[in-house]
Amino acid sequence: MQNPRFLIMDSGVGGLTIAQNIQTKIPHCQITYLADNGAFPYGVLPEPVLVERLLSLLPPLEREYKPDIIVIACNTASTAVLDHLRQQTPTPIIGVVPAIKPAAAASQSKQLALLATPGTVSRHYTQDLIDRFASDCQVLKIGSNALVHEAENKLRGLPVNADTLSNELAPIIEANQNGSKVDTLILGCTHFPFLHNEIKRCLPEDVNIIDSGEAIARRALHVLQQLPESSKPHIENQFLFSANDNHAHTLEAGIKHLGFSKIRFLSQSTTQNTQKSGAS
Ligand code: DGL
Repeated sequence: MQNPRFLIMDSGVGGLTIAQNIQTKIPHCQITYLADNGAFPYGVLPEPVLVERLLSLLPPLEREYKPDIIVIACNTASTAVLDHLRQQTPTPIIGVVPAIKPAAAASQSKQLALLATPGTVSRHYTQDLIDRFASDCQVLKIGSNALVHEAENKLRGLPVNADTLSNELAPIIEANQNGSKVDTLILGCTHFPFLHNEIKRCLPEDVNIIDSGEAIARRALHVLQQLPESSKPHIENQFLFSANDNHAHTLEAGIKHLGFSKIRFLSQSTTQNTQKSGAS
């Protein structure tokens, strides 16, 4: 398909790690990226609030940008809202969920760690993935909101806080000191690949780190190949923020550096209803 259009969304900049993988696999794709910074961070929102927010935020964007594929580039949102969203639209929706299955297959010791947001680690959806694909493994779940902020700060050009990093990863180090052998860490939050090198340095060398980026790009290509041929006019890649605030402005340079030169802020009318529901 010529100029396939993707609508990719996350609470913040984390989904850019997925967008980068998709751009590598499908270089001619056109991306409209939404950072729902008005409700960031998703990882601490109650599940029904998150579901309601996404169900009202996405349809107007879908009508405006007419994507061929929507990617929910956020584990926290995907593990809560995928089924609801798929009932709402015929557009193919690809969700990003923790890479439990490949991690279980790769692990020799069958002891995994899942580093994700507090929301993702507590979801039934996540436990269901573990029960289905890693029933022969022990999974140490670590919910971290602090590392989501560290990843956003890194894109702002700020140094990553080494103490925060080692505090958040301490359960893995402690488990291994106490006789476990966690050999595979799943990055179950799309923000965390931005911290891959810093995380790697904090862990024993033989811990393998796995994220969902490449698998999602492969899936996107496969879904695209199943779609009927269509040719839409070329549109520029663009980055949308749901709220116009100072934090968003401090991210602009980092976002441009990653190839999104056109940055826009959604009008209040697009986010009004969702903000009301987010506050209820
Ligand atoms: N990037 C998101 C994820 O994959 C979550 C970040 C947040 O808590 O807003 O789960």
